[in-house]
Amino acid sequence: MFLSPARVLLLAPLTLCLAAAGCRSAKAAPEQPIDFPHDVHVGTYKMDCQYCHSSVDKSQFANIPAVGTCMGCHRITARDKPRIQQLTKYSQEGKSIPWTRVHDLPDFVHFTHRPHIRNGVACAECHGDVGKMEAVRQVAPLSMGWCLDCHLERKAPTDCLVCHF
Ligand code: HEC
Ligand code: HEC
Ligand code: HEC
Ligand code: HEC
Ligand code: HEC
Repeated sequence: MFLSPARVLLLAPLTLCLAAAGCRSAKAAPEQPIDFPHDVHVGTYKMDCQYCHSSVDKSQFANIPAVGTCMGCHRITARDKPRIQQLTKYSQEGKSIPWTRVHDLPDFVHFTHRPHIRNGVACAECHGDVGKMEAVRQVAPLSMGWCLDCHLERKAPTDCLVCHF
């Protein structure tokens, strides 16, 4: 395949990123079907993370809330705003919102929120100050070194089989 100079330029940051292995840190926020503002809900209206992400300390995955949870407020709140009309349409059609994942560890890594939350690790230590983010984005590298640094510091287990099985 012939690579034009423009094409090489396009590929260069990707190669650098693979080489530096730090490329998953501080990624830009992905496109979402509805631009959901964490800063409005958490920053301005002081909502608790677990009001929406209610399974974060209970099951392996932190849930994204169902449309019904949103409609609890938005049947009335800001119902004439375009983004809320988009939301209402999903609700009326009985469809769930196809949110794009922001964080996604490889399948060979075992991560669960529960032991972290139960041991007092704050959301912000891994996700940054989400309450100030207009669109949530990944701020930590999620590399093995990043996990291990904290595990060593907090005397959490570092056995390979804790995270790989
Ligand atoms: C009103 C409901 C609501 C509240 C409150 C809320 N979130 Fe969210 N959160 C969402 C929705 C909806 C998404 C999916 C859209 C997106 O990624 O922007 C999401 C996505 C996320 C993601 C990205 C998930 C992924 O795909 O990797 C993180 C991390 C997150 N929230 C953390 C938090 C934290 C930390 C707090 C509290 C400081 C919080 N959220 C409060 C609704 C909420
Ligand atoms: C506890 C009540 C509550 C819940 C639950 C809630 N919101 Fe909101 N939301 C608000 C308030 C209050 C505002 C600010 C409205 C305003 O500025 O007029 C807002 C604003 C918004 C906006 C910005 C609207 C605009 O264009 O200014 C979007 C988008 C939004 N919410 C989506 C959602 C989604 C999606 C969910 C569910 C994941 C959700 N909300 C859950 C109370 C809530
Ligand atoms: C020890 C670091 C850490 C802490 C503390 C943490 N998270 Fe996460 N979070 C992660 C990682 C890593 C992922 C990606 C998991 C994956 O891809 O399997 C993630 C993913 C998520 C997701 C996407 C759904 C999922 O489970 O993959 C949401 C939502 C989320 N976190 C919310 C929160 C909230 C809310 C808190 C605080 C109550 C919190 N997180 C605390 C590291 C953390
Ligand atoms: C900011 C600190 C911090 C980060 C970052 C962190 N952890 Fe942890 N982790 C902890 C603490 C604290 C515990 C609880 C240890 C205990 O039970 O005493 C823990 C526990 C765990 C456990 C349960 C261990 C057991 O008891 O069986 C797993 C699995 C785990 N972490 C995986 C990960 C993975 C994978 C990552 C990176 C994606 C990660 N952690 C990042 C602090 C952290
Ligand atoms: C606290 C959690 C944790 C522990 C303990 C851990 N790993 Fe990992 N490991 C990870 C994460 C997270 C990744 C994914 C890194 C990425 O995608 O950048 C990873 C990736 C890997 C990879 C893939 C190659 C790479 O570097 O991306 C190998 C091989 C690996 N780990 C081996 C081990 C071995 C061997 C041990 C024990 C000495 C171990 N891991 C202990 C979290 C852990």
